[in-house]
Amino acid sequence: MKENIILIGFMGSGKTTVGKKIATSLGYSFLDTDELIVKRAGMEITDIFETQGETAFRKMESELLKELNATVTHAVISTGGGLPLRKENAQLLRTLGLVNYLKVTKEVVLKRLKGDTSRPLLAGENVEEKIEQLLTSRDSVYQSVCHIEINAENGTPEQVAERVISNFNKNIL
Ligand code: S3P
Repeated sequence: MKENIILIGFMGSGKTTVGKKIATSLGYSFLDTDELIVKRAGMEITDIFETQGETAFRKMESELLKELNATVTHAVISTGGGLPLRKENAQLLRTLGLVNYLKVTKEVVLKRLKGDTSRPLLAGENVEEKIEQLLTSRDSVYQSVCHIEINAENGTPEQVAERVISNFNKNIL
């Protein structure tokens, strides 16, 4: 396993916010798979889904993950919520670094993403049911892909970051 910290978990679990704090604390670089894909594609994620479809987006995620595996160390990598679902990605994630699952409940996701329009999978009606369905089906995948499950439900982003860092230190020492 390479010396990177990977954050996986549902939309709104705090991967980006917490990831930046961890990176600052450790002096690591910070990478966000969504951000890298948006930069490369030259369009927002909603537009990629609309013009090219979800499958094309998932392929972009897998390609990016392979590249990161070949090039990156000493980084904190925040991933899109659906990235761990592809089988090939699961193994790539586990070799790329220590995989932390930031676990949250439906209520927290709902509260944090209220009014958000940047997530195509939660667009339209019945957002609460969509979150419930996706979260229920994905929780077991996140659990099986991760090395460590982190409570991202309680505490400030700094405290969640601290939980990740202390586990990371135990694992690399
Ligand atoms: C997705 C999560 C999003 C983004 C895309 C699809 C998902 O990332 O990759 O909208 O399938 O859960 P965040 O988890 O950063 O919101």
